[in-house]
Amino acid sequence: MKRVAVFASGSGSNAENIVRYFMDKPNIEVSIILTNNPNAFVLDRAKSLNIPSLVFNRADFSKTDKIVDVLIEKKIDLIVLAGFLLLLPPRLIDAFPNKIVNIHPALLPKFGGKGMYGMNVHNAVVENKEKESGITIHMVNEKFDDGKIVFQAKCVVEESDTAEDVAEKIHKLEYEHFPKIVEQLL
Ligand code: GRF
Repeated sequence: MKRVAVFASGSGSNAENIVRYFMDKPNIEVSIILTNNPNAFVLDRAKSLNIPSLVFNRADFSKTDKIVDVLIEKKIDLIVLAGFLLLLPPRLIDAFPNKIVNIHPALLPKFGGKGMYGMNVHNAVVENKEKESGITIHMVNEKFDDGKIVFQAKCVVEESDTAEDVAEKIHKLEYEHFPKIVEQLL
């Protein structure tokens, strides 16, 4: 059995999509969903999906081994960041070398880095009059949006598209590709 831990800070629609994708695969499971945000909707999703969840605070996350210990205890093979907004502490990256993957809702290296998350990204894409955008799935290191790129997929941005339109296109790409890439990485 391969075990996945998903980190999310908000809605968690990607987290849910990944859980559902692996539900009927006998040898891979999402073992736990973790969040830094006690009000995140991803917690409701975890409950309805019957997946254990864990809320942690920033200090525990970055200054103690609590989270790393949970992940080791659960024998996690791959950590998936799906809309997770905190920078990972070195202790976590060191404990899971090359075993942490993130999805970014743009074509990195464009529109990445600190502050570039959620609608900020799609607003910047529209303001910049980009002709295309997309998703980037990449391994995680100690900087924001900086690790080795594993996969990218593109979509067209029409002149008439609003940031919301772009977000919808990006979510479609994320739902289609992210679970498959996670599966490949396992
Ligand atoms: C996704 O677009 C993801 O790429 C980005 O944050 C968003 C999270 O959406 N990092 P959701 O919480 O999975 O619905």
